[in-house]
Amino acid sequence: MRAVVHDRYGEPEDLYLRELPEPRITDRECLIKVTAVSVNPSDWKTLAGWWSFATGRRFPRQTGIDFSGTIERTGRKVTRFRVGEAVMGSVIPLRKGCLAEYVAVAESHLCRIPKNVALPDAAGIPVACSTAYVGLRHRRKDLQGKRVLLIGGGGGVGHFVIQLGRVFGAHITAVCSEGKMELCRELGADRVLDYGQADPLESGGSYDLVFNCASSISYPQARRILNTGGEYLLLETQGRLWLFAYSLFSQITPSRRLWAFLVSPDGERYNRLAELFEENDLKVVVGSRYPMEKAAEAFRESKNGHATGKIIIDVAQ
Ligand SMILES: NC(=O)c1ccc[n+]([C@@H]2O[C@H](COP(=O)([O-])OP(=O)(O)OC[C@H]3O[C@@H](n4cnc5c(N)ncnc54)[C@H](OP(=O)(O)O)[C@@H]3O)[C@@H](O)[C@H]2O)c1
Repeated sequence: MRAVVHDRYGEPEDLYLRELPEPRITDRECLIKVTAVSVNPSDWKTLAGWWSFATGRRFPRQTGIDFSGTIERTGRKVTRFRVGEAVMGSVIPLRKGCLAEYVAVAESHLCRIPKNVALPDAAGIPVACSTAYVGLRHRRKDLQGKRVLLIGGGGGVGHFVIQLGRVFGAHITAVCSEGKMELCRELGADRVLDYGQADPLESGGSYDLVFNCASSISYPQARRILNTGGEYLLLETQGRLWLFAYSLFSQITPSRRLWAFLVSPDGERYNRLAELFEENDLKVVVGSRYPMEKAAEAFRESKNGHATGKIIIDVAQ
């Protein structure tokens, strides 16, 4: 099968297509014929070697975390899926990649795609939408009327935060570049700020949650605009692992917490997301798509840091 791999830690240019043996499945895994893979910023960060202490020095390495496709084969103990079903899912980050014609995935990391989403676009849901869901739901059973400041409203995670936030009844102020303001409004943001014109710290208002998808506001800055009991969600610690420890400590303090978190594969959560998509007609906004041969270009676009919605790499038609 064809797979996108790299032979060293480096840049998107280091990616190339190579023939690899088709993966073998264990009893509880399914072999997926991959339709599409989404690009997440962690893909180019892993490629650059940000987490080489965990990913090691064995090359060639595959890349890609979340995908959509059809079940090609099932392990002997797989009970929930049948050959031919359309699924989406993710692989354990840092362990293996799914940007290939086939991938072996644990049954527990898969779910059926929502009926209202096209199969290739469903690849954009598992990681980015999970991040939006987990972040919004953390320690919050009820988001009704809660005020959320979302930094990076038009990107992969951000465009799901707006849609889920609307479903959960939150009041969303989305911060983005001028070109994405209309998109954020269409998706349901209550207020939209162009970061080229307005400083979100000085724009008036205080918030119950600062959801930071672009690292442009630090925790100490966010504390100034957080209500008592509010929380700052940090998606990218930029290698400062102590922030996870601080984040745990912060959970026991009563006011203005910081929470740094990582999402992991979870088929049950993906099922819940699929239900939310169907019940509320949620959308995957695909800003750009590339064929597998142009994976390097897709990674470069993500690395530029201004993606619109999700970047999708089509593996098969
Ligand atoms: N912890 C986890 O489990 C987890 C999971 C997924 C993602 N992440 C991390 O979360 C971050 C966001 O991921 P993503 O997939 O949403 O990335 P993305 O698709 O690249 O989106 C980032 C968005 O931020 C906007 N942006 C850039 N500078 C900005 C600024 N100064 N103010 C406001 N918006 C700005 C960009 O577009 P414009 O500049 O044009 O507005 C872009 O739309 C990444 O660092 C990623 O690694 C973490």
